[in-house]
Amino acid sequence: MQIPAVVELENLEKSYRLGKVTVNALRGVTLKLQQGEFMVIMGPSGSGKTTLLNIIGTLDKPSSGRALVDGEDITRMNDGQLTKLRRHKIGFVFQFHNLIPVLTALENVELPLITSGVKRKASRNRAMELLVRVRLQDRTGHLPDELSGGEQQRVAIARALANHPRLVLADEPTGDLDTQTGAEVVQLMHSMAKQEGSSVVVVTHDPVVAERADRLVEMRDGRITEKAGEPLMGQRRTIRAVEPLPPEPGRSLSQPN
Ligand SMILES: Nc1ncnc2c1ncn2[C@@H]1O[C@H](COP(=O)(O)OP(=O)(O)O)[C@@H](O)[C@H]1O
Ligand SMILES: [Mg+2]
Repeated sequence: MQIPAVVELENLEKSYRLGKVTVNALRGVTLKLQQGEFMVIMGPSGSGKTTLLNIIGTLDKPSSGRALVDGEDITRMNDGQLTKLRRHKIGFVFQFHNLIPVLTALENVELPLITSGVKRKASRNRAMELLVRVRLQDRTGHLPDELSGGEQQRVAIARALANHPRLVLADEPTGDLDTQTGAEVVQLMHSMAKQEGSSVVVVTHDPVVAERADRLVEMRDGRITEKAGEPLMGQRRTIRAVEPLPPEPGRSLSQPN
């Protein structure tokens, strides 16, 4: 029996309308992410990477196409169902950690557990366990601004994994860190996701992050420049645009007359 993909996108399109201007941020993205896979998305600024991640994370809706997360069609779910799905199945790591400034490291990691109904003692134990694994056992009582950038991102990783999510989404998680710290953060995210069995999609410009990929895909102008195909689990597979890109067609921005 085939295990269902954790993410399955079919011909996903997204346009933003700003007055008379339409931006085609996604122009038909088809993609599958399998259980336990670590996928890295690279591509120039404005190519649609964040838009794609936000749709997979149910923070934004596509204009057309199909999007399944853990077998459920997120384009047909109401806000309540989406909140529940997000809470139980998806962990987020952002470029700037997005930790809650008035909560300690421990409380930040506990929060997603408490909001999804885990009892106080169990949530505290799980949060502690995760902070030990990101090597912050000596920083549990610190507020975010009492931590370094790398430490803040390690708390964010612990928080993202707290609920044993099926899926972790990370948008330029090392974008604000120096190379060495970024490499450590990615190493941790990679090994912890593998231990937990969570699938990961990371958007990055960082070649160090790309090295970790089970699967590396490139985005250009709202499209994935990869030939569609099944990923080869366990084998590193690099997919690049093989042909030079056509000249910019005035980008995806159609100007009003
Ligand atoms: N909320 C929005 N409203 C209008 N245009 C947007 C919005 N979000 C993104 N865009 C546009 O969509 C395109 C893709 O953006 P984005 O997904 O942020 O790219 P990336 O993350 O690859 O830099 C860009 O042209 C951007 O200006
Ligand atoms: Mg972006």
